[in-house]
Amino acid sequence: MADKKDLDFTYTTIDNIFRLSIGETADFSGAKYDGDFSMSLEEAQKAKHKFIADSLNIKKGSKVLDMACGWGPFITYCIKERGVSIMGLTLSEGQATACRKNGMNVKVKDCRTVKTEDFGVFDAITCIGGLEHFCSVEEWKAGRQEQVYSDFFQTLDNLLPKGGRFYMQTMTFGKNMIDFEDIDVNAEKGSASHVLALMIKEFPGSWLPYGPEMVIRNAEPHFKLISQSSGRLDYIETIGQWRKKFRKFSLKKYWLYASLLPQYITNKEFRHQVAIFRISPNRVCFEKEIMEHYRLVFEKI
Ligand SMILES: C[S@@+](CC[C@H](N)C(=O)[O-])C[C@H]1O[C@@H](n2cnc3c(N)ncnc32)[C@H](O)[C@@H]1O
Repeated sequence: MADKKDLDFTYTTIDNIFRLSIGETADFSGAKYDGDFSMSLEEAQKAKHKFIADSLNIKKGSKVLDMACGWGPFITYCIKERGVSIMGLTLSEGQATACRKNGMNVKVKDCRTVKTEDFGVFDAITCIGGLEHFCSVEEWKAGRQEQVYSDFFQTLDNLLPKGGRFYMQTMTFGKNMIDFEDIDVNAEKGSASHVLALMIKEFPGSWLPYGPEMVIRNAEPHFKLISQSSGRLDYIETIGQWRKKFRKFSLKKYWLYASLLPQYITNKEFRHQVAIFRISPNRVCFEKEIMEHYRLVFEKI
């Protein structure tokens, strides 16, 4: 799995830039346009929050756990719109600090290892864009990927009562995924080989499930699937909107970009890691259907 060092690299490094660009408590996961791209990014993210809260029957008095909470967008929605008691977990120190500054109950903790002794049981649990980080390339190579997901659903089983619901959205590999041996950072720019190599550098310690079937299969001993939908096209739009916001000028933000220049000039590895500011590997992967994206609602049986 991606450990704290990996996730600090991915999320704490961009903490200030993200909050200055997208918003103090904004989502860093695909929004829900349902194909209506006349919606603003903010409207589509709110539509996602409403869909999740409705799907999980979250109402006043519910006790909710938001695993992999990022900068706390779903927590913020639940507090403001549903009046619930909700806590979040992240492995990024920068995100946790920002969440606490914004009044949220967020801890730095590996959500895959939460036990009932830690915080009790919950009425509903979410994991929005977290599963992508749970299995590393090394674990996949060692044939441990199914076990990683199966262990995670066992954790969830312990934390929910019968009938309790869990929402996850996750990227998966899609029908045009290539062989691992063909992934090459020196391949033609924008090719599947090239963008997948950039993804691995941007998200160290992270490897995706092979389709939603792999996730559902490992949930099945404990959970039944209530709904499944693809968010691939919505994610392409989301990334397009993020890129506009990342580029939008603000003196403070451009000063932060400038502060990365010396490292950019002297460190080739860092140049690969921040290539995402020029090309979006995720977007190319979604466009080429190398990757898919799914929203899954489960209920404990
Ligand atoms: C793509 S962000 C999504 C954040 C948020 N859910 C949202 O929708 O904006 C992924 C999040 O997963 C968290 N994460 C990844 N692995 C984790 C783990 N094992 N335990 C807790 N958080 C984890 C990261 O720290 C980060 O906050």
